[in-house]
Amino acid sequence: KIGRKDIELGEGETKGTRVKVMGRIHRLRPQKQATFITLVDGYGHLQCVLQAGDLTKTYDALTFAQGTSLALYGEMRKVPAGQSAPDNRELHVDYYQVLGASPSDDDAITNRVSAQQNQWDPQMLDQRHLVLRGDNAAGLMKIRAAVERAFQKVYDDLELTKVAPPALVQTQVEGGATLFSAPYYDETAYLTQSSQLYLETVLPSLGDVYCIEKSFRAEKSLTRRHLSEYTHVEAELDYIDFDDLLAHLEEVICRVIDIVLENPTIAALLKELNPTFVKPSRPFLRMKYTDAIEWLNKQDPPILNEEGNPHVFGDDIAEAAERKMTDAINRPIFLTHFPVEIKAFYMKKDPSDLRVTESVDCLMPGVGEIVGGSMRMEGYEELMQAYKNQGIDSKDYYWYTDQRKYGTSPHGGYGLGLERFLAWIANQHTVRTTCLYPRFMGRCKP
Ligand code: 4AD
Ligand code: MG
Repeated sequence: KIGRKDIELGEGETKGTRVKVMGRIHRLRPQKQATFITLVDGYGHLQCVLQAGDLTKTYDALTFAQGTSLALYGEMRKVPAGQSAPDNRELHVDYYQVLGASPSDDDAITNRVSAQQNQWDPQMLDQRHLVLRGDNAAGLMKIRAAVERAFQKVYDDLELTKVAPPALVQTQVEGGATLFSAPYYDETAYLTQSSQLYLETVLPSLGDVYCIEKSFRAEKSLTRRHLSEYTHVEAELDYIDFDDLLAHLEEVICRVIDIVLENPTIAALLKELNPTFVKPSRPFLRMKYTDAIEWLNKQDPPILNEEGNPHVFGDDIAEAAERKMTDAINRPIFLTHFPVEIKAFYMKKDPSDLRVTESVDCLMPGVGEIVGGSMRMEGYEELMQAYKNQGIDSKDYYWYTDQRKYGTSPHGGYGLGLERFLAWIANQHTVRTTCLYPRFMGRCKP
């Protein structure tokens, strides 16, 4: 593997270890004296030198092109002083085999997309499978894997049990408007919007739980932070109060960032994408919904609601307004205590002000909301009333309601959008670039 750093190197022109390396041509620089190839294999980059001479007589321009897959044999040497190469080494090739050729014309798509920055451009999205070969896209996928590993590690350390709730369900969690439905034998099923309700059902047996699963939303708008399919990091905690929930959330976010930055390869990738990123300091700013709408109205000019009027209690805070506020304040915000009417049916009301819920959105600069969470309604009667208020048929929810019937408890949890977390830390314009193959309205391929 190219990433192996332990291959013995020779000094300057002295002999090193003879090795065989396999990979694809990432960059090609034919020169008079030698041909320079940057070979890539998903573990790293390696500079390879083919000196002009016997070897170069056996190939022509058609043999080598960006994307061509090769086995190269030769000596690994330190690069001469004054020159630079990845890991300060280069392979002096004395023999090669072409394992899979790639077309070499200048229009070859591999040439056009590999360094592509505008990964969200529709043409680039059609070529996503090739765009993923570029350093930028590949780096982001490595970061994504590291972030997901870090979440698992943190939850493990905090003794949450990982569970795998179903993706095919027959209940909604976040409103009927964004449900995808699918024929399910003789019935109808939906693609899950959130695993929250299922997580709540296992608190009595497993204690605190989490899952990292896909959630699906039939979002009918094309914003830069909405996907139809996204990775949802969700946790549910038993016997807590609202302050505990916020403290836990802060801790998880900060620990994940610590772990990610401890990895030198990932930290270097992140530094390249987001040079000014600094780990947020705790505590995060706490801001109530009512203070937020006051803040919006106080700006000069005021930041208006969706109807173009100053915000009044009960208004949704739209994405643009939310982001303007977060960017202006420029630090993580826990926005709390949203009105009952604009939040989901299951949220617990604030005992000291029944107009609002014990709810939280975590807002990050550049993205806005990356987490939504709340304490959950505990009482049976109250929950039955909440179904009714939102026109939900309680029959379908018997398994969820039973939590309140058989030993209810103060509990709460949250869901974090992995793609939005990544857009925040890696400074991405849109969540689309943080997905392997993004799905949003109008795009379901490749
Ligand atoms: O705020 P949401 O809708 O909350 C829930 O689904 C809760 N049931 C979660 C829970 O308490 N267990 O979604 C949670 C997070 C959002 O903050 C956002 O980061 C992400 O999921 N999210 C999306 N990400 C990308 N595309 C979409 N369409 C998203 N919808 C939500
Ligand atoms: Mg939300």
